[in-house]
Amino acid sequence: MQKTAEAYSKLMILSLIFFIGCVSEQSEEKKGLKDFSSFPIGGAVEIRQVLQDTALEAIIFENFTSITATSDMKMYAIAPEEGNYKWDRADSLVAFSQRNDLRLFGHTLVWHSGTPRWVFQKGTEDSLWLGDFLKTYIQDYVGRYKGKVAAWDVVNEGFDTQGGEYRKTLWYNKLGKEYIANAFRYAHEADPEADLFYNDFNLERDTAKLNGVLKMIEELKADDVPITGLGVQMHLRMDIPDSLIRESVRKMAATGLKIHFSELDIIFNTHDDTRGGGEQLYSSVTPKMLEQQAQKYEMVAKIYREEVPVSQQFGITFWDFTDRDTWINPFFDLKDWPTIYDEKLEPKPAYFGFRKGLSE
Ligand code: G3I
Repeated sequence: MQKTAEAYSKLMILSLIFFIGCVSEQSEEKKGLKDFSSFPIGGAVEIRQVLQDTALEAIIFENFTSITATSDMKMYAIAPEEGNYKWDRADSLVAFSQRNDLRLFGHTLVWHSGTPRWVFQKGTEDSLWLGDFLKTYIQDYVGRYKGKVAAWDVVNEGFDTQGGEYRKTLWYNKLGKEYIANAFRYAHEADPEADLFYNDFNLERDTAKLNGVLKMIEELKADDVPITGLGVQMHLRMDIPDSLIRESVRKMAATGLKIHFSELDIIFNTHDDTRGGGEQLYSSVTPKMLEQQAQKYEMVAKIYREEVPVSQQFGITFWDFTDRDTWINPFFDLKDWPTIYDEKLEPKPAYFGFRKGLSE
C-alpha cells in the first residue's frame, strides 16, 4: 500500500515537472522582440486590416509596445473635405492602443504628400487662409487626442529628396519656412506633454540632407521652438554602408533630441525615390541573401543601442512588418523582401538578426 502511494506521489511530481517544463517552454517561445529590448519597438498598422486579421494582431501583441498608423492619421484621412473632420479611424486606433497598452505614435500632421486636394487648391489661392487652417487643424487634432497620442511627427519630409534645401511644398511656398516652427508651436500648445518630432528619409545616407536638417534643428532650438525628437525613416538598402549609417546616427544623437528609427525596412533592389521608380536587380531571394539581410538588421539595432544615449532612445518602428504587406512592392513596382516576416507571416532570418542586435 505504502509502495503504491510512493509510486503515485513520484508520478505526480514527475507530471508536475513535465507540466512546468511545457509551460515555461511555451512562454519562452512566445517571447517577442519587445522582450529583448530596453526601448519601445513598434510597427506601422492600418487599423481596418488589424481588426480583421488575427494573425497580424498576434504579431503586434507578441512583438511591439508601440504602433504608428501607416495612413489613417494623415491629413487626407482626417480632413478629406472642407468643414468635415473624419475621426473614425483615428478614434479606433486610440481605442485599440489603449485597450492593448500600446504607445500610439501620431504620423503625421504636415506632409506635402498627405495634403488633401481641397487644401492644396484653397491654400494656393489664399495664404492667409492656409496659415489659419494650419493652426486650427493642428490644435483641433492634437487637442482631441491630448494625453492619448504620445508623440507626433509634426512635419514629415520638409527637405528635398536630395541635398540640404527645404522642399518647396505648398506649405513652404505660401507660408515660408516658418510653417515648420509654427506647426511645432501649435502642437505644443495643444498638448504640452506630447513629444514632437521632425521626420525625414535618407538622412542616414545623404550627408548634405542631414546637415540641412541639423542646421534647421539648431535654428529651431535657438528660437525656443518646442521640438523634442528627430525621426529618421530608415528605409534602407543592403548596400548602404554600416559605417555611414553609424556616423549619421551619431550626428543625429548629438542634437540631444530623442531619436526615432521611424520606418525601418531593408531592400535588396534599388529605386530612384519616386513612385514606380524601382529597378529589379534580384528576381528571387536566396538563403544567403536572407542571412546578409539578417546581419544588416542586427547592425541597425546595434547602431541604435551604441550611438543613441539611453535617455534619447525613443524606439525603432518597422514600416510594414511582413513581406506580404510591404508598401515597397506596389509603390516602386518591385518584387522585394524588405521586412522581418515573410509572405506567409513566418519570422525571417531578419527577425532573429534584429533580435540578436537588441540583446547582444
Ligand atoms: O484607404 C484606401 C482604400 O479605401 C482603397 O481601397 C485603396 C485602393 O488603392 O487605397 C487605400 O488607400 C491607400 C492607403 O495607403 C491605405 O492603404 C492609398 O491608396 C495609398 O496611396 C496609401 O499609401 C501610403 C502612402 O504612405 C501614402 O499615404 C502607404 O501605405 C504608406 O506606407 C506610405 O507611408 C509613407 C510614410 O507616410 C512617409 N514615409 C514614406 C512612407 C512610404 O511611402
